[in-house]
Amino acid sequence: MKKIFLLLACCSLHFLSFGQAPANNLGIIPEPVKVTKKVGSFTLPKIVILEAASQPEVTPVIAYLKSKLSTAAGTAVAVKSVAPSASIKFVLNKKNDPLIGAEGYSLSVTAKKVTIRANEAAGLFYGVQTFMQLLPKEIESKEYTKGIKWTAPCVDITDYPRFAWRGLMFDVARHFFTKPEVKQYIDAMVKYKLNLLHLHLTDDEGWRVEIKSLPRLTTVGAYNVKKVGQFGTFTAPAADEPRTYGGFYTQEDIKELVQYAKDRFVNILPEIDVPGHSLAAVVAYPDLSCTPGADKYVVNSGEPFMNWNGPHNTAIVDNTLCPANENVYAFLDKVVTEVAQLFPFPYIHMGGDECAKNFWEQSEAIKALMAKENLKTQQEVQAYFEKRLEKIVESKGKKFMGWDEILEGGLGPNAAVMSWRGIKGGIEAAKMGHDVVMSPTTFAYLDYMQSDVNETKVYAKLRLSKAYEFEPVPDSVDAKLIKGGQANLWTEQVYNIRQAEYMTWPRGMAIAESVWSPKDKKNWNYFFGKVEKQFGRFDEAEIKYAPSAYDPSFSATRNADGTLKVTVTNEVAGLDTYYSFDNSFPDNFYPKYTTPIDAPKDATTLRVITYRGKTPIGRMVSLPLVDLGKKVK
Ligand code: ACM
Repeated sequence: MKKIFLLLACCSLHFLSFGQAPANNLGIIPEPVKVTKKVGSFTLPKIVILEAASQPEVTPVIAYLKSKLSTAAGTAVAVKSVAPSASIKFVLNKKNDPLIGAEGYSLSVTAKKVTIRANEAAGLFYGVQTFMQLLPKEIESKEYTKGIKWTAPCVDITDYPRFAWRGLMFDVARHFFTKPEVKQYIDAMVKYKLNLLHLHLTDDEGWRVEIKSLPRLTTVGAYNVKKVGQFGTFTAPAADEPRTYGGFYTQEDIKELVQYAKDRFVNILPEIDVPGHSLAAVVAYPDLSCTPGADKYVVNSGEPFMNWNGPHNTAIVDNTLCPANENVYAFLDKVVTEVAQLFPFPYIHMGGDECAKNFWEQSEAIKALMAKENLKTQQEVQAYFEKRLEKIVESKGKKFMGWDEILEGGLGPNAAVMSWRGIKGGIEAAKMGHDVVMSPTTFAYLDYMQSDVNETKVYAKLRLSKAYEFEPVPDSVDAKLIKGGQANLWTEQVYNIRQAEYMTWPRGMAIAESVWSPKDKKNWNYFFGKVEKQFGRFDEAEIKYAPSAYDPSFSATRNADGTLKVTVTNEVAGLDTYYSFDNSFPDNFYPKYTTPIDAPKDATTLRVITYRGKTPIGRMVSLPLVDLGKKVK
């Protein structure tokens, strides 16, 4: 996916240090709106009395707090509706406080009591998240942890989000992630007050949601052949290789995930990606295709099947649903009916991205449709399809959303647009009065490499500092139409949940701060200091994260004699970089990088390592000079 945006996503090392660094130094991500530090600290008693009204919507917040406090700190929580001596108190405002809105809160920590006030339960939940970040990092441990002073600094915080849509997209189609793994992903995202999980449920490699009226989508479409290595370059599977790799969520699983997410104030946005990216559906039901021979297709296992180069993608096997085929609309009606019943979120995302048109161009049925409907281009054929689909979605009481390709050939009347090819599509849609969510490759694509080196090879790079520059509202549009933003984790090259976490964190924190915190509170150096504190918490929680921000970036020019002049930059301030060209592994007794360095004539490898003072902090980087030479313009 997404190859054509390589250029946009590269080249990211510049700054960025917009707002004033807040003086509070509490390490909270996302940065709260207002923090007033006080003297003293609160100590968790062995038994916490929690004063909380018994409204049912507060029950999940109480359960969450209980579980967090009992695990590592071993603290029991007794809940009372009135308790003047309570050490923690939840208050749901009787009179709505318009400043903090539906998700905001105020948190007061005094030596005696922690009080969280909010208009709605979501705000209490976010107040709890902030309180957790004030406690020692060991609160994140999965085990009872002895010998910790469970204190939190006294503080007054008023906080509320900048955007209502604060998302992460998780592609569970390219590689399947189990129900417990999705829960684990949700557990991490809520720590940073992200509230929307976009599940990319269908693609060429698998259909992941049970549709009872179309059982072959999952009996056939959910499985491919297990391949490991560089996805997209695999050999085509042989006919006798077992097609047992993958899986899907039953409708009961989906209900459980929706409830799990709801209890953590997360909405799940389902995505059914059509008309492109639909090979799994076509394999299950070949009569959805315009192309003869589709009944011989197989679910993709990572073997090449698309040409991604050039201005338009072309398909080698026809992975599209046929807009000229009435069966397709009957099929989509069934799918959307069941999806609408499963997911309470008002939107259904129907994909629309990267749809190859080369098979449509050949199809007599498409030619007839174009003549009948007076469609001039293949983009208009897709627009015809999208508009019919929008009606289907709306007929089930849902709102229609798609990737920004749905703008091409004419946008449907109420369609919401998720802008991924930069923010251009988002601007265009907002100017026409449509709702927009920003998730541009340039800042928000979590499948991209996090540095030049030491990363799984993908065709583009997105450094943490660049992700932190994410700004969902372009100057030229009405901010009201920008619902918010999200980061997208595509999983072609992500084979397991540990790698999914590695790719998501800490860039997910950068996106979270960009969609929650006031714009003028953002400050890169201060943010990175907070990220380092969060690393300690992730270690306790045993969540994987990328240390890639400590890896330098490299660029080079060629000297007159053909040798390379190498420039090394660090996105993190205050690091020293030591290097070698002699194939040995540098430490802080090696030359320190200060200005661009000339590679000796016969050297083959540049090795570097970053230190903070005397402590090695980055990973050992080994960079073949031939690779660097290829980057010279
Ligand atoms: C996309 O990345 N193809 C939406």
